[in-house]
Amino acid sequence: MPESAQTANPVTFPPAFLWGAATSAYQIEGAVREDGRTPSIWDTFSHTPGKTAGGETGDIAVDHYHRYRDDVALMAELGLTAYRFSISWSRVQPTGRGPAVQVGLDFYRRLVDELLAKGIKPAITLYHWDLPQELEDAGGWPERDTAYRFAEYAQIVGEALGDRVEQWITLNEPWCSAFLGYGSGVHAPGRTDPAASLKAAHHLNLAHGLGTTALRSVMPTRNSVAISLNSSVVRPLSQTPGDLAAVRKIDDLANGVFHGPILRGAYPETLLTATSKVTDWSYVLDGDLRAIHQPLDALGLNYYTPTLVSAADADPKAPRADGHGASDHSPWPGAEDVAFHQTPGERTEMGWTIDPTGLHDLIMRYTKEAPGLPLYITENGAAYDDKPDSDGRVHDPERIAYLHGHLRAVRRAIAEGADIRGYYLWSLMDNFEWAYGYEKRFGAVYVDYATLARTPKSSALWYSQAARTGTLPALETA
Ligand code: FCB
Repeated sequence: MPESAQTANPVTFPPAFLWGAATSAYQIEGAVREDGRTPSIWDTFSHTPGKTAGGETGDIAVDHYHRYRDDVALMAELGLTAYRFSISWSRVQPTGRGPAVQVGLDFYRRLVDELLAKGIKPAITLYHWDLPQELEDAGGWPERDTAYRFAEYAQIVGEALGDRVEQWITLNEPWCSAFLGYGSGVHAPGRTDPAASLKAAHHLNLAHGLGTTALRSVMPTRNSVAISLNSSVVRPLSQTPGDLAAVRKIDDLANGVFHGPILRGAYPETLLTATSKVTDWSYVLDGDLRAIHQPLDALGLNYYTPTLVSAADADPKAPRADGHGASDHSPWPGAEDVAFHQTPGERTEMGWTIDPTGLHDLIMRYTKEAPGLPLYITENGAAYDDKPDSDGRVHDPERIAYLHGHLRAVRRAIAEGADIRGYYLWSLMDNFEWAYGYEKRFGAVYVDYATLARTPKSSALWYSQAARTGTLPALETA
């Protein structure tokens, strides 16, 4: 039966399953110049003409820094049981090094206390793309020292919040930081240097390993440390050897470059060979792989859409349709012989094809590759062009269908033996969608950008019912 079809049987989740929503600091907080915060690479990038849609920035975003109490109250009203948010590094350590600013940490202490008081489990992401600008000026992620700076920062935040937050995520989607930030340049800091992007990937891995060790040195052992990867589900256009080789290459560049060292302590040989014209990997120093290969307590998977590839000669003029923004520079170093294709089917406002089977396949892959490791879906969701009706209500049946289909895929994976402990909808509310500015609305809660008023969309109410009952409501009740 197709994923989107209704079933007579209720789709019910285990009682301990977490029903969460996710956000990140730069996308929601605003207050970018308050309480000692200094610019991050995203402040600089968004203020650079031509980098974001309409020149939009996160200066105000959705003003969560001042409205966090109301936002937590709203989450509680919706019955959410978990909330994943990120810490703004330059709010806590304005120069990216040295002692912490207590007012910065106090904001997160208050946020966490508010969540705990409402029975919502906080999950902290330490790094969701907003490197302090001073560290970028010193070389950014292609520079080894940035990994040590991250470990110091992780220790500071672990010391401050480790007593009350059990779930920790070191990095969010290091693929985007490395390859969109330093390869295609569509994300901050906007550099377009393929060799630097691979170097950045290695130092992000090192940051994850050193950060994990630093967190564990200061936190109670009951706390869980994970990483959130946007592992791609890479599929071949056909079964020809050329197309299968393209899958291998992109799978290495999207996934193996991170999960190789993190889960197995080695970069895939095929990755090293495929990128040998771009870099010699001489920055992987003795002991690095051991430092990166730390045991994890869980793995976070972010999923939106699958990736369809072929050998480039299948259609040499095809535009790169990998869904990662327009740039003359590819985020895929050494993959000039690969072509990207649009997966057939309905798409969201991002142009991303809706395919819940990809989420199921991703979960089953890591269930096999990392046996015994608990999994969380740390992001999943869809952008639509939502608008309030004349009564001020926001109906978003497409998002409900998207969530329904993907949650069913999660449930199917659980039935097949996957250990998935929770799901974080991206996103709690509409927010600053990076290079797309405020054009793309991913929220379950609508934000009126003129007044910053929040209105739960019908998908929020649908998801709320799922969270309260542990069973997916039927589509027609939404
Ligand atoms: C992910 C990011 C998140 C958001 C969603 C749509 O790649 O982690 O911040 O932008 O995509």
